[in-house]
Amino acid sequence: MWPMQPPTDYPKRTHTCGDLRASDVDQVVILNGWVESLRDHGGLRFIDLRDRYGITQIVTDSDETALEADALRPEYVVAVRGRVRPRPEGMKNPRLATGEIEVAADEIAVINPSAIPPFEVAESGAEPGEDIRLKYRYLDLRRRKIQQNFLFRARVVREIRQCLEEEGFLDIETPLLTRSTPEGARDFLVPARLHPGKFFALPQSPQLFKQLFMIAGFDRYYQIVKCLRDEDLRADRQPEFTQLDMEMAFVDESDVRGVIDRLMARLFRRLLDRQIDLPIPSISYDDAVSRYGTDRPDTRFDLPLVDASDLAAALEFQIFRSAVAAGGVLKGIRVPGGARFSRKEIDGCEKVVKEFGAKGLAWVKLEAGGPKGPLARFVEGAQEGRLREVFAAETGDLLLMVADSAPVAAASLAELRLHLGRKLSLMGERDFSLVWVVDFPLLEWDRDEKRWNACHHPFTSPRPEDVARLESDPASVRARAYDIVLNGVEVGGGSIRIHRSDVQELVFRAIQLGPEEAREKFGFLLDALGFGAPPHGGIALGLDRLVMLLLGGSSIRDVIAFPKTARGNCLLTDAPSPVAAPQLRELGLELRRVETPPSGR
Ligand code: AMO
Ligand code: AMP
Repeated sequence: MWPMQPPTDYPKRTHTCGDLRASDVDQVVILNGWVESLRDHGGLRFIDLRDRYGITQIVTDSDETALEADALRPEYVVAVRGRVRPRPEGMKNPRLATGEIEVAADEIAVINPSAIPPFEVAESGAEPGEDIRLKYRYLDLRRRKIQQNFLFRARVVREIRQCLEEEGFLDIETPLLTRSTPEGARDFLVPARLHPGKFFALPQSPQLFKQLFMIAGFDRYYQIVKCLRDEDLRADRQPEFTQLDMEMAFVDESDVRGVIDRLMARLFRRLLDRQIDLPIPSISYDDAVSRYGTDRPDTRFDLPLVDASDLAAALEFQIFRSAVAAGGVLKGIRVPGGARFSRKEIDGCEKVVKEFGAKGLAWVKLEAGGPKGPLARFVEGAQEGRLREVFAAETGDLLLMVADSAPVAAASLAELRLHLGRKLSLMGERDFSLVWVVDFPLLEWDRDEKRWNACHHPFTSPRPEDVARLESDPASVRARAYDIVLNGVEVGGGSIRIHRSDVQELVFRAIQLGPEEAREKFGFLLDALGFGAPPHGGIALGLDRLVMLLLGGSSIRDVIAFPKTARGNCLLTDAPSPVAAPQLRELGLELRRVETPPSGR
């Protein structure tokens, strides 16, 4: 018969592996944890025992415990009983919180052995490949470096909750099974068994529900909530991600930004011990695009884009002239001291802009003896002076230029700027720079579909003074929208909403959403706006991105416990997976053929 197990059949811990200090010397303690590493030093066996709280060094001091230690392998779960003693002088480890002491074991018991892990969990191990990490994510999460990310993430969430509770926000949940909420991505659909042929959509955000909360009078709402978007993935994009979602009534832009300013200041102070100056500065969308080539500028360093279009006509360089004559621009970047760049370095820069659609990169070095490089003969004499003036350039600088349509010049130079920032080490590893981007256009022209789309989402309020131009000049209508950008990553975005159904209908019309379609899709919102909707607005922060940036990381997969791969699947559970025929039948679904998506497996 199986022996009866008492509730705990192992010596239960008295302390964690992060607890013990010099002041605990001589105590008899029991520790439980995982074997991080084993070392044999002339008869004495050393075991590093690990748990979430830290690492404690165990040392055997009898033949018996040495034998017990020899039976251990990495990742075994063990119980150790022993006496705390000071480490001998010279053996203290200042990198460990428990580094002043060790535990002299008089009993070591295996609680549960471990198979040989597919990669080394110990800190000293080599960095495993991402696929194997994700397949054995629970072991990856056991790695100290990764585990720290989640301890940190939990602290971020705790601070957010405390801050918003203090500011009077209510945490209210919104449904997961709902109708489409347009945030510009594809919906994930869920077939409704009870309504054959019909589908729920998983929310791309709680946008419409939080607006209904304002109409309901909740006044200040927040939620830390999963959002689901079926889009192509990147390092900072997941199909399932978490937002800090908020909405407020009777507010304008400054109120919403004020809350986020205070929240950011608190997060930086409490989690990184840094002061940030409030208010967080802002830049208009137009200025951001003209100065940085993008609406999510990395403001950790300057290196602005310079518009030299006016110069193009005066230069004999045909490429410049024809690009500007065709309605394009000539823009460039002045690299201070860049005249020392090698040909190879400049070719590297050219490669960057070409990847983003530019046809080439024109360059000139401003050397003491005159301009050097392929452009030199076009800018000798008087033109050199004008060029220096436009770029505010000095001897020793390098000027890099792209002549193209405005969007291509902006996008390619924005990338070049980042490339130069990294190359010239203009951003320190622990530098942070926050900026609000404001005054977005309300609508953008979709060239493929030949129609206007909402830049943010169709519930964003136009500036009141611009509403009259919705029909006559849609491009000129500005939105009451704002994004917050941290180190060149959009960490949040929001807007003041439309709170009147007549304005909402105008905007729907501007994006060619006919009255019937609007009613079919958003009838409930239009109705609700008719029942005394207060002016309201809000914002959502991408929590995963924020945590990643605060940690100085570059992949949100490192701060999501069970992320999807770049191919959109889960290597741990092997989801998504096929379903059995009866299940499909029950849902009234029939698979005709299974097509392989372009980038899927
Ligand atoms: P938006 O679509 O801009 O706004 O989303 C808000 C923030 O969420 C983050 N984010 C993502 N993070 C990871 N993976 C993704 N796929 C992903 N998509 C977005 C970004 C982004 O800034 N309802 C509006 C907010 C509002 O108007 O209040 C919304 O969802 O950091
Ligand atoms: P080419 O005449 O094509 O050999 O180009 C001469 C130089 O101009 C090369 O350094 C190209 O990279 C550069 N160049 C070509 N097209 C452009 C452009 N649209 N904008 C800026 N530089 C360009």
